[in-house]
Amino acid sequence: MAFIAWTEEWEIKIPQLDAHHKQLVSFINSFHDAIEKGKGDIAVYTILPELLNYTMYHFVAEEEIMEKYSYPQYKAHKEEHKFLVNKTINFYEKYNAGDINITAAVFDFMNEWFTKHIKGTDKLIYPFLKSKGYV
Ligand SMILES: [Fe+2]
Ligand SMILES: [Fe+2]
Repeated sequence: MAFIAWTEEWEIKIPQLDAHHKQLVSFINSFHDAIEKGKGDIAVYTILPELLNYTMYHFVAEEEIMEKYSYPQYKAHKEEHKFLVNKTINFYEKYNAGDINITAAVFDFMNEWFTKHIKGTDKLIYPFLKSKGYV
């Protein structure tokens, strides 16, 4: 069973970004599956880089939308993205330094932070676009 089920609750009502988020949730689920099967150590080098890559691709797309419409919280939002990427990279450094529990730590972080970001920060974009009549 998927660890994170995609429900309406996840939708931020911007179709392109919802599609990206859906893909990200699927990476998180694959990562979780791997940990459950005791293959977390492999997943750190296979699934996690894909997740990180896709995350960066997604952040650029999301930031372009915010910039295009002069979204007022653009800078603060971009900072959160930067924090998320840096934190993930830090996990790699710790993992490579020999912390064997890192797979669980990465997953906790992903789940906690990622969920909060999409359901909190990302959800604020659409009401702004709507209030300005852009959508
Ligand atoms: Fe975001
Ligand atoms: Fe996002």
